[in-house]
Amino acid sequence: MPRIRARHVILCTAVVLWIYYFLPTDEALPSLPRYGQDSSRRGTAALARYMNDPAAVPNITAKKSSFDWSSVNFTYPPKLTPKLPAPVAERPRIQHRFKADSKAVAAIQNQRRDEVKRVFRRSWASYKRRAWMKDALKPISGDYVDQFSGWAATLVDSLDTLWLMGLRDDFYEAVEAVATIDFGHSTAPTVNTFETCIRYLGGLLAAYDLSGHHVLREKAIEVGDLLYAGFNTENGMPVDFINFQVAKKGSGLTVESRVVSASPGTITLEFSRLSQITSDDKYYAAVSQVMDVFHRGQNETKLPGMWPMFVSMSGKDVVSGYQFSIGGNADSLYEYLPKAHALLGSAEASSKKYEIMARKFMDTAMENLFFQPMIPDGYDILVSGNCDVLDDGPHLDPESEHLSCFIGGLYALGGRLFDSKEYLDAGVKLARGCAYAYRSFPTGMMPERYNMAMCPGSDRFAYCPWNQTHFDVEASKRAEYKPHLPKGFTTAKDPRYILRPEAIESVFVLWRITGDSWWREIAWEMFEAVAKATETPYANAAVLDVTVLGSEKEDYMESFWLAETLKYFYLCFADTDLISLDDFVLNTEAHPFRLVKG
Ligand SMILES: *[C@@H]1O[C@H](CO)[C@@H](O)[C@H](O)[C@H]1NC(C)=O
Ligand SMILES: *[C@@H]1O[C@H](CO)[C@@H](O)[C@H](O)[C@H]1NC(C)=O
Ligand SMILES: *[C@@H]1O[C@H](CO)[C@@H](O)[C@H](O)[C@H]1NC(C)=O
Ligand SMILES: *[C@@H]1O[C@H](CO)[C@@H](O)[C@H](O)[C@H]1NC(C)=O
Repeated sequence: MPRIRARHVILCTAVVLWIYYFLPTDEALPSLPRYGQDSSRRGTAALARYMNDPAAVPNITAKKSSFDWSSVNFTYPPKLTPKLPAPVAERPRIQHRFKADSKAVAAIQNQRRDEVKRVFRRSWASYKRRAWMKDALKPISGDYVDQFSGWAATLVDSLDTLWLMGLRDDFYEAVEAVATIDFGHSTAPTVNTFETCIRYLGGLLAAYDLSGHHVLREKAIEVGDLLYAGFNTENGMPVDFINFQVAKKGSGLTVESRVVSASPGTITLEFSRLSQITSDDKYYAAVSQVMDVFHRGQNETKLPGMWPMFVSMSGKDVVSGYQFSIGGNADSLYEYLPKAHALLGSAEASSKKYEIMARKFMDTAMENLFFQPMIPDGYDILVSGNCDVLDDGPHLDPESEHLSCFIGGLYALGGRLFDSKEYLDAGVKLARGCAYAYRSFPTGMMPERYNMAMCPGSDRFAYCPWNQTHFDVEASKRAEYKPHLPKGFTTAKDPRYILRPEAIESVFVLWRITGDSWWREIAWEMFEAVAKATETPYANAAVLDVTVLGSEKEDYMESFWLAETLKYFYLCFADTDLISLDDFVLNTEAHPFRLVKG
């Protein structure tokens, strides 16, 4: 009875629509504006209102945390030198000199940007309704979870995205909430230094840099002083986990003997920027002690120029290990070297250090980690693998991961900072490699971790034609090989996509640096794939298997979905002056810090 069924459908649809529109607003998902309805003009008008009229900025006062971290009496006070270097007068130009888009092209980009904003607002609305002031929304159940000490990680992480999308009312509503966060109390007995630094301190600093609101500065100082208490150790190195109660007493903390190198290596930008905005050198001085250890050890490791993935901060040993990678565990240690140079300039010796470390690592990684995989369609790409240095020398394993995808953008940035075509070209090919991986899988997204077959021969950058015999040999070495994988991939060891940003991060940087519109097109392709595959009733969720269509999802939405992934997508289609790379450097959580000019 097709006709009756059709009528049923119409009736049901009408009921559903009725429910959708007439349920109380705190129950139904808001119907968010589609293309065009929420035009950029509204955002611009809101911006102008807040920028030109101080009275439009709500009067918000920060509530002091229940413990004053600046009052800790240190058993081991950190050194107070070196002093922050003076701002540099000149920096090399980073961004391409863009000309205005034609009207037709601009209209397409505006539509795309608004679509990204729509997806952001949908996730934000659900966070607001179901998980407000909690660390993260669970996007399938609509529940929430506190896994980062309970200081509203998603809220703090999203502040600058709200600002740059022009959502000023939501922004100030969030600032009012930030004003009440109590950094004197944690939901867990220990606090993770790395996550607290990149998400909370980074988020507050960037939101302050964009809006200038004093509450954000005050709260940034509170978190900064909490993290600074993690330096109350016998040898001046920071702890990986801060024991909250011991840290308050000031009796001293015990530095761990084995940590991933990214943990102590990812404080420089946040602490340097905090010193800049407070004119208090102590943060910069404390982190400088750490980076001096890395600087001294750089040429003494088993792969000179890079540091092992695991280091011992208790023994100040950053040279003994044998595993090397620019991926997870190590990534942002490397990321922060060129970026610290960008933030601090190299007017004086202590920041020249970052240029030296950056160039040296970039040369070493290029020589030992990157390779052209054997792929069926002849694209000129590079992928970053892992290198183990054994008794008989370095061994490159062609295993890569989503986390490594930031490296293309970083080499492109390095290419501009250090005037090197070689770095820039490598950056283009590395970023292309990640875009290629997205395209290869049926969902349009790349797996969290995977292997490819390297081209045979000694020149790892050289192209090679497809050789099925060679591929079969490589695939047979991998227990995880599955025949349904795209040609060229020998495993999808971890087949999830967990809403990560690194691939689109590099696409964004390449777009801004080269001005080649191919990057904007690939960004849109990636966005459509990601938005579709990750959508849930409330927001967006991690996908368990990108190698098949219709995979199950996981009830989890990392705060970096709003802080990074959607921000980078948005910026790919926005005005190229919005967060220009000549005015800002972004931390590893995509929080833009303003570059001070001397
Ligand atoms: C802002 O609020 C504080 C405390 O409520 C008050 O003391 C102050 O006068 C207000 N400032 C302005 C400009 O309204
Ligand atoms: C640090 O010492 C001063 C002076 O003895 C004291 O007033 C203050 O309460 C101490 N701070 C903490 C956090 O115990
Ligand atoms: C490490 O080697 C590079 C040259 O390859 C040099 O510029 C740098 O100063 C060296 N670092 C140290 C700490 O000696
Ligand atoms: C293809 O690879 C196999 C196995 O490595 C090798 O023996 C053969 O010579 C290669 N064929 C060509 C045409 O290069």
